[in-house]
Amino acid sequence: MIVLSKVVRLLGLILPLLFPQAGLAQDSHKDMEQTAQLLTTFLNAGRLVVDRNQSLINDPGKGEKGFTPEVFERLVRDEFLEQTRIDLSQPPASLPSSAQALLAALLLASKDVVGDAQFVINQRGIGYKNFIPATFGSQAARKFSNRSHVTIKQTTLNPRNLKNTPDAYEETVLERLANQPASTTPIVEWVDGGRVLRTMMPIYYSEDCLTCHGSPKGILDMSGYPREGAQTGELAGAISVQIPMDPQ
Ligand code: HEC
Repeated sequence: MIVLSKVVRLLGLILPLLFPQAGLAQDSHKDMEQTAQLLTTFLNAGRLVVDRNQSLINDPGKGEKGFTPEVFERLVRDEFLEQTRIDLSQPPASLPSSAQALLAALLLASKDVVGDAQFVINQRGIGYKNFIPATFGSQAARKFSNRSHVTIKQTTLNPRNLKNTPDAYEETVLERLANQPASTTPIVEWVDGGRVLRTMMPIYYSEDCLTCHGSPKGILDMSGYPREGAQTGELAGAISVQIPMDPQ
């Protein structure tokens, strides 16, 4: 038995030297899965930061709010650190390089969205400004996706914003999630014969969401959309990430 275990250990050392691609391919699949999940976590952290500053943003009595791209960056880094133990200002060596690059790009896109919204955010005399987690999330996701081979998106079965319409894969997963007990575990799957990684992180309605997405169904909310009649705990949608293995 001792000899056998030695052989196995030796093989473990030699095989990667003989077939480096085999080990790499496996690693990079795992790296990609980690990257995709970190991207969903990051977009969600950005949504949370906007949510926490919503009453400041909506304050009609205040001009300059101080909710600048730099302040947003600090808050989103803190929230991401809290959730993942990863400090993006000192990324650990274990963080895949793809994750480092893509998270930096998503941070940049998010800051650009906050930057572009400064004029609106700093307007005095207007309460609701339509700068909310969902609009922030849709815009940051789109800006990032336009600049990258990776796609990130907020989606749901009957979207308010048609740009958030699910594709066939997303629709199937959303239907599955809607009929399952709530779970924060993301769905991670390789599709197209293993060439494309799809990740979906479900989002559920909490009490706060119902001022807009709750009852009475069909009555317009403050953002001008008909309410969905949703209830706390119901599936709101998902943050979806798509990474092709061969960047086009
Ligand atoms: C102030 C009203 C308001 C509140 C509160 C609100 N939403 Fe929304 N939600 C919207 C609007 C407006 C959109 C469309 C955003 C856009 O244009 O992309 C939206 C879109 C979404 C989407 C993307 C899919 C779609 O329909 O386009 C999800 C998912 C979502 N909301 C979930 C939530 C969750 C979860 C909460 C609570 C944490 C929440 N919303 C709170 C107004 C609101």
